[in-house]
Amino acid sequence: LSSNDQQVISAYKWLEKLYHYLLRYAKDGKEGHEYLVTRGLTEETMDVFKLGFAPNEKEFTASFLEKKGFQLQELIKVGILTNHGNEQITDRFAGRVIFPIRNHIGVTVGFGARAISGQEPKYLNSSESDLFQKSKLLYNFDQAKKHIRKQNEVILFEGYMDVISAYQAGVKNSVATMGTSLTKSQAQLLKRYVDTVIISYDADQAGIEATYRAATLLKEAGCIVKVAELKQGLDPDTYIQTYGGNAFLRNVIQASVTFMTFYMRFLKKDFQLHSEADQLQYVQTVLKELAKLESSIEREYYLKTLEDEFDLSMDSLKRELTGYIKKNP
Ligand code: GTP
Ligand code: MN
Ligand code: MN
Ligand code: MN
Ligand code: MN
Repeated sequence: LSSNDQQVISAYKWLEKLYHYLLRYAKDGKEGHEYLVTRGLTEETMDVFKLGFAPNEKEFTASFLEKKGFQLQELIKVGILTNHGNEQITDRFAGRVIFPIRNHIGVTVGFGARAISGQEPKYLNSSESDLFQKSKLLYNFDQAKKHIRKQNEVILFEGYMDVISAYQAGVKNSVATMGTSLTKSQAQLLKRYVDTVIISYDADQAGIEATYRAATLLKEAGCIVKVAELKQGLDPDTYIQTYGGNAFLRNVIQASVTFMTFYMRFLKKDFQLHSEADQLQYVQTVLKELAKLESSIEREYYLKTLEDEFDLSMDSLKRELTGYIKKNP
């Protein structure tokens, strides 16, 4: 680590403690505390994730850090402070709830900061740097690791709040990306710890498209992919806060479907299945994907669903599939 990185890590360490203390015990953090209570979080959960609040005073953090002897220029670069191109150095996260982001060994290397009264953008994150690379980090990975190993399963969410609500509901083997698509290096990192990844993204168009992309990368990395589906418009956090953690475990996580089942539904939106030409194309596209499956029992299972749905003969489906397996051995 460069001495700059050490400075930055030390600043995060101070601020994490300070913001968390303020949120839990001080008048300056009361707004943040109230916000998290309205989102259904307990004090214990706030402690586990070291959630904090950056006071709504523009120079609070800058003057705190200056008194501690920090080089403020470095902290502008990483996005803790800002100077808007002029002399005055102010707090970039002022008035926001703070989500400390730790790397895989538990060192805080960045913050996510959520607006609590409608400011834009909804979330602000630390700036990209050698230390804080969103494409390599996974939120909560350090705490989830042992649960992921034990269960040989990880749940992949979109957002901080999904991870935190799930944790509070007793689901501790979860991680999240931070507003960007899952990357190859994140997929490979997960594969080192688990076989099965359950993708539980928001039930909106963006979430469904992102599920397909993440699943593709995870499969390439060698993972078994399952997909947890929610009713349109929900996200995992909203589901848990509405229906409870047990319902989430039973009706969403344990009811998650295989990648193939998700894919067959996902693909349908690209076809007009009342047209015969489209039906044929749909079936052929599914068969191409089926050809990639290792297990003949699995292939047979999905062939059967095609047989039933499109009134095709098993023989012709099998013959067609064999053709694709030969092309793609
Ligand atoms: P809540 O509204 O607090 O429940 O957030 P959410 O996690 O449900 O947010 P959403 O589904 O919109 O986004 C998922 C994740 O993307 C968030 O947890 C953030 O990491 C990230 N994100 C969302 N909005 C923004 C934004 O405006 N800017 C940035 N940089 N990241 C964002
Ligand atoms: Mn959003
Ligand atoms: Mn979303
Ligand atoms: Mn969401
Ligand atoms: Mn949400």
